[in-house]
Order: sequence, then C-alpha cells, then structure tokens
Amino acid sequence: MLLVIENVLSPELLEEINRCAMDGQWIDGALTAGSLAQKVKSNLQLDDNTELAQQLQDIVLEAVATNSLFCSAALPQMIYPPKFNLYKNGGAYGTHVDNAVLSVPGTGQPMRSDLSATVFLTDPTSYAGGELVIETEYGAQEIKLEAGDMVLYPSSSLHQVKPVTEGERLSSFFWIQSLVRDTQERSMLFDLDQSIQGLAGAADQSETVTEEVSRLTGLYHNLVRRWSEF
Ligand code: NI
Repeated sequence: MLLVIENVLSPELLEEINRCAMDGQWIDGALTAGSLAQKVKSNLQLDDNTELAQQLQDIVLEAVATNSLFCSAALPQMIYPPKFNLYKNGGAYGTHVDNAVLSVPGTGQPMRSDLSATVFLTDPTSYAGGELVIETEYGAQEIKLEAGDMVLYPSSSLHQVKPVTEGERLSSFFWIQSLVRDTQERSMLFDLDQSIQGLAGAADQSETVTEEVSRLTGLYHNLVRRWSEF
C-alpha cells in the first residue's frame, strides 16, 4: 500500500521547520548509509546530535502521531525519530531498500522497519527533479508532493530519489514498526477502519446503522487483536 496523506504539517510549522533547518548542521548523507547504499547516495543530512535537529524531530513526530489517517494506516508501535535531508546541485539517492532492522538512537533498542515515510517540506514549484520513485506491484510511482504532505509506503519497496537539478529539496523521513507486520493485513484493517469512520460519520443514522457500526467496530478490534504483535 502506498498512501499519500495531505496537510500533515500546517503552514506555520512548515515555515518554522524551513527557517530553522537552514541554520542547522548538515553532514554528508553517505556517512549514514550502509556500504551498498553509500555508493548511490549524494545528499546532505541534518546532524541528529544537535538540539535543533531534536526540536525539528519533535515537531514532525507530534504532527504525524496525532494524524488520524496516519495512525489508521500505519498502526504504529514504534516510530524512528524523524531525520531530515537536503538535495541540491544534482544530489540524488539511487535505487535502494531501507534497512530491515534499525537501532533506535539513544536507547539502542532494535526496531523493524515495516513502513517508510517521507514528509515533503519544500514547495514543489521551487525545485526541479527530486521525485521519490517507488516500485510497487503496479509499476513505479513517481511522488512529488506539496510541502506539508507525506507519503507512506512499505519499507520492503525499492525506491530512489531522482537528481535535484534546480533549487533545493528539503524533506523529513522516518520508519515505523507497525503493530501489524503483514502489509496486506494492515491494508485490510485500514480499509475496514475507513469504511467504519465513513458510516459512523454519515448524516442519516438509523438505529440499525448505529448497531451495525458497533458490530463492525467490534470486528475491527478483534482482527487487530488477532494480528497484532508486540
Ligand atoms: Ni530509502
């Protein structure tokens, strides 16, 4: 499942992130890549070990963790502290797959990457290139979103960022370990939850509809109970 979630960040938060990020300490992105990914990665990454980076992480983390569509789709159990990267002057990240197991900074706790997320932070009309290309079962999808929008996709997907040939592209990215490890199970739960929300929000609510919504909600929770892992 590849899902775009719009307006995860308000214009005010976007402005703050963009303003602060420019004062940040940027390091060569290749330093943080595995040996294979290193060869195809040319971008800059905000040094995570700074107070500024941690402030920006908190802003993104709070915005996604309170986004109901994100929670419904990802069923997050653990979210890796968001990172920030900057592509300019032809910077790109060739085809790769993200690491399957990550070590959470600070605690060293291992986590599995089930889902990858990218939050676009720059007005797409201000730079050329920089599309995130994700291989899916229906072919490659090119993603270039409005500032403040995010894309969520399975971490098992091959993906790349095309060269940014004009302007600069700032984004935030992170990984999620989901309560439900299997992509298809998670995707079915998302569909069911969205239908329940749609029915529950419908204007003409007869008693029968209300009762059936309760039954479907029960079914949803029973499936989560069956499929979730800790
Ligand atoms: Ni990646």
